[in-house]
Amino acid sequence: MPESFDVIVIGAGPGGYVCAIRAAQLGMKVACVEKRATLGGTCLNVGCIPSKALLQSSEHFEEAKHKMAEHGVLFDGVKLDLARMQARKGEVVSANVKGVEFLFKKNKVTWLKGAGRILAPGKVEVAGETYETKNIVIATGSESTPLRGVEVDEKQVVTSTGALELEKVPGHLVVIGGGVIGLELGSVWRRLGAEVTVIEFLDRLVPGMDNEVAKQLERTLAKQGLKFRLKSKVTGAAKGANGVTLTVEPATSGTPEEIKADVVLLAIGRRPHTEGLGLAEAGVALDERGRVKTDAHFATNVPGIYAIGDVIAGAMLAHKAEDEGVALAEILAGQAGHVNYAAIPGVIYTWPEVASVGATEEELKAAGIAYKAGKFPFTANGRARAMGDVDGFVKILADAKTDRVLGAHMLGPDVGTLVAEISLAIEFGASAEDVARTCHAHPTLNEVVKEAALAVDGRALHI
Ligand code: FAD
Ligand code: NAI
Repeated sequence: MPESFDVIVIGAGPGGYVCAIRAAQLGMKVACVEKRATLGGTCLNVGCIPSKALLQSSEHFEEAKHKMAEHGVLFDGVKLDLARMQARKGEVVSANVKGVEFLFKKNKVTWLKGAGRILAPGKVEVAGETYETKNIVIATGSESTPLRGVEVDEKQVVTSTGALELEKVPGHLVVIGGGVIGLELGSVWRRLGAEVTVIEFLDRLVPGMDNEVAKQLERTLAKQGLKFRLKSKVTGAAKGANGVTLTVEPATSGTPEEIKADVVLLAIGRRPHTEGLGLAEAGVALDERGRVKTDAHFATNVPGIYAIGDVIAGAMLAHKAEDEGVALAEILAGQAGHVNYAAIPGVIYTWPEVASVGATEEELKAAGIAYKAGKFPFTANGRARAMGDVDGFVKILADAKTDRVLGAHMLGPDVGTLVAEISLAIEFGASAEDVARTCHAHPTLNEVVKEAALAVDGRALHI
């Protein structure tokens, strides 16, 4: 008799492992299939965690070299030990992935090691064994999108995975794609001494983020030394002993030119990972972009098969995947699991950071929703001045009639943390007035959020 489960989750990224833990907490017998040697998926192994470790370390290097003198802290001969920095990143990843293994043991989730394949509803094959289950959850995540003419070898032409592993600071790093990965990892290697050029197809960076934030982010990163080639596309990459020669053309039409790079980072988006899962044979429908099609309860068209995280529609974010994992486990337990997609924040961990939640001005205009905007700059905040981090602003958007908070868009120090306040406001259906009347400690960066909320009604105090 094959071993049987209530739920088999395929993929142990933030979507899958969190779903498995929550289902186990709710009393189900759960297995999670993972083919990688460690748990935690893209996020813990080659995504969020290692990139944030390198962002932190490279920011310390940048501060020691260029920012501390302003505070009267002088260093002699600051040097980079890249091997140590990379080793530390490895230690951070290792602690995190082992943490998930511990949580599986604690919650009695069985880790089925190997690649999972759906044989039929209720049947999953892993490493030659067949397991039975009442429910299957597809949580197989995403992978880097390839670009024709630019062949990835993870040495000279890398995806984010290779860009996290470089053993030497490249002389010239060319990044294809001015999105989240390009700007975060471009920042890391620029801080560590590389010349960095970002080639972006559109006329702006970070599409989808608020326009005003994107423009100021571009100016701020340009001041830090990143170079941008907007409205441009790469049509070829020739590798040689001395680097890569890229053919770059204007996005519409024009004369091609060549750009030489020591390393090229391809970061033009990610695509759902469904290869080898047996979806076609099981009859699971995909959408036009290859994502598993689901309804509002994460159910696919095949009864008993569900999907969550990067492999389905929506933002490709770890916390979105996690929340879907929790909601689905609760639905499977007969509860009312739910994700409020209007309150999912997005953060870009450059310095200053970018953070956004809810609707953008562009979206509200397109939807014909009348809104008021309140904006407050970090230059007018005492704590930001004390820190020496005054670039950026917080903008809060509220319904013109009801004052209900609809969105917030921020650029500035630690705004990835500040944005949580507005996620909570949206979750609670709060008004800008509610945020403005909440006492905020002084002197904190959070006071910028309060002042922006006051500014919605034209009554900011410190400007
Ligand atoms: P994944 O994390 O991709 O996990 C899927 C898992 O399924 C993988 O481990 C894979 O090996 C496994 N798998 C696939 N097929 C099979 C199979 N057939 N059998 C068994 N196992 C299988 N998001 C943020 O919110 N914040 C960040 O700061 C952030 N930084 C990022 C930085 C980088 C460089 C990258 C690449 C991504 C980053 N992301 C970030 C995005 C985040 O990593 C993803 O949104 C998140 O990992 C998605 O979770 P998931 O569970 O859907 O899939
Ligand atoms: P992205 O979607 O953020 O950005 C890709 C960029 O490449 C876009 O600006 C797009 O216009 C551009 N582009 C597309 N084709 C191009 C071409 N041929 N030439 C030049 N530019 C081109 O994708 P990215 O940066 O690869 O990241 C993938 C996903 O990973 C993100 O969307 C995000 O969901 C997740 N991620 C999240 C992070 C975070 O939350 N801090 C950090 C890193 C990744």
